[in-house]
Amino acid sequence: MSNTSRVVLALGGAGTVGSGIVKALLDKGFKVAVISRDSSRLDRLRTFISPSTKENLTTIVGDVGSEEGAELAKQALLEAVGKVTDIVSSLGFSWWQGGPPHTQSVKELQWVMETLLFSTFVSWKTFFPLVRDDSHCSYTFITGGAGEKLLMPGTGFLTVGAASSLAFCQVLREEYPDVPCKLNEVKINAGVAAPERMAPGYLNHLELGEAVAALVEERDTSHRVFTISCPADLKTVLLERNPVDSETPPCGHSLLLL
Ligand SMILES: NC(=O)c1ccc[n+]([C@@H]2O[C@H](COP(=O)([O-])OP(=O)(O)OC[C@H]3O[C@@H](n4cnc5c(N)ncnc54)[C@H](OP(=O)(O)O)[C@@H]3O)[C@@H](O)[C@H]2O)c1
Repeated sequence: MSNTSRVVLALGGAGTVGSGIVKALLDKGFKVAVISRDSSRLDRLRTFISPSTKENLTTIVGDVGSEEGAELAKQALLEAVGKVTDIVSSLGFSWWQGGPPHTQSVKELQWVMETLLFSTFVSWKTFFPLVRDDSHCSYTFITGGAGEKLLMPGTGFLTVGAASSLAFCQVLREEYPDVPCKLNEVKINAGVAAPERMAPGYLNHLELGEAVAALVEERDTSHRVFTISCPADLKTVLLERNPVDSETPPCGHSLLLL
């Protein structure tokens, strides 16, 4: 199947991480569909991608964090694009530092869990059946190493939310060991930003997008975790799929973020 006949659903595709992936997929000739709750984010995405690829981008306003919203979005998606061959999920938020747990409310924790975990779960449950039984299809989760430790004071709920996403992806690998669809996770142990907002240790979302797009394009691995801790890992771990990838290659001083 050529890239031009593949349709990628990019969940969170209007976000910082997702927009880099969407641009790279479009540049490789894929058709891409993005669902966002915010039409202005979708407008910004349209101006961000390469102008020559605009016709291959479908945007849908919808909320994949609720079962009803996700079902409606699925119907709109299938009406617009007919089929989906690949899914990349980078749902969540860029950063949270609301303060230590004793200063927080249940409402805040609920928001964190809804945005990071519930949206990931509900959208997986809704859209996975579209790709589950086909070995030419893929489902790729983007997660963050923040789930493994407290990054800095006041970021505790980020750790709780990110940890729940890591656990969810692990559960899927273990519950569905033989599923034909290529099921992979890209775990990012660094901050991700657009070129104009880069800080030391950050990954450029365009370079990350190119590496994730290459993983989607190849579809030659499944049930793997690709851990990215610094820019060099994009080449060795994601592009070359170095077998020593899976857990934490040392990358010196890279800043551990979401
Ligand atoms: N940014 C980083 O530094 C970093 C580092 C490591 C890992 N990560 C991973 O990447 C993920 C995304 O980070 P990001 O920086 O791209 O965040 P972001 O810019 O806030 O984008 C997140 C996207 O998720 C979407 N989303 C969340 N809930 C949704 C829902 N219910 N329905 C539809 N869309 C929903 C948002 O869509 P709307 O447009 O509707 O708001 C938004 O486009 C994180 O959760 C984390 O797992 C990020």
